[in-house]
Amino acid sequence: MRRTMVAGNWKMHGSLQANRELLDALVAAPRPACELAVCVPFPYLAQAQALLDGSGIALGAQDCSMHEQGAYTGEVAAGMLREFGCGHVIVGHSERRGLHGENDAVVAAKAQRALACGLTPIVCVGETLEQREQAQTEAVVGLQLDAVLHLLGAQAEGIVLAYEPVWAIGTGRSASAAQAQQVHAFLRERARHHKIDADALPMLYGGSVKPDNARELFAQPDIDGGLIGGASLKAADFLAIAAAAGSH
Ligand code: 13P
Repeated sequence: MRRTMVAGNWKMHGSLQANRELLDALVAAPRPACELAVCVPFPYLAQAQALLDGSGIALGAQDCSMHEQGAYTGEVAAGMLREFGCGHVIVGHSERRGLHGENDAVVAAKAQRALACGLTPIVCVGETLEQREQAQTEAVVGLQLDAVLHLLGAQAEGIVLAYEPVWAIGTGRSASAAQAQQVHAFLRERARHHKIDADALPMLYGGSVKPDNARELFAQPDIDGGLIGGASLKAADFLAIAAAAGSH
């Protein structure tokens, strides 16, 4: 049995008051039958850590530095995240790759740093619409995954993989369950070639997951949960999505 997980990526949203309302609602709700995590902006880590204390909901961040420490103005080290109770950190989100020029080697190095600090990296891969239309989806996500697997070797068994087609993020246009399943199956096969225990690797789908499409996505054999953007900011929606994941 693979782990099932739903993680919220708040992106650059939140305020002290809004966070409190959202996290209080999550903590007060019955625990779903899947792992639940929220990845919050850096300044809110201490607040979220305190509000989630003892709740069983994991805390995560949205990025970390590839470096251990040093003169890297504006960067945040994985070890610092660990000090604030993070168990997870997203690396290689397409918004970091696209807007901040992160390449596959940087993403792999960040995943390695996270693991070294005891964090689970949630490694994102995904193709653009143009790449999909040119039938390059598998080539693109395959190379993105290879970079991480090459660097990490057997340690890659400690990651969570997230497939997030760029064209489905924040657009309201989710991949169909069949499209997502096809890429997840491809990625699992690719991981198998790297001689890691691919059957145990949790793989999340992300991109316009909502309560009304979550169940069908999570019913796919290679989809083990979701990485949720917009819908993770609404407690009822996020909990409904978690319930859908927990029912599989
Ligand atoms: P949306 O759920 O808002 O499409 O965002 C997905 C995402 O980027 C999660 O990391």
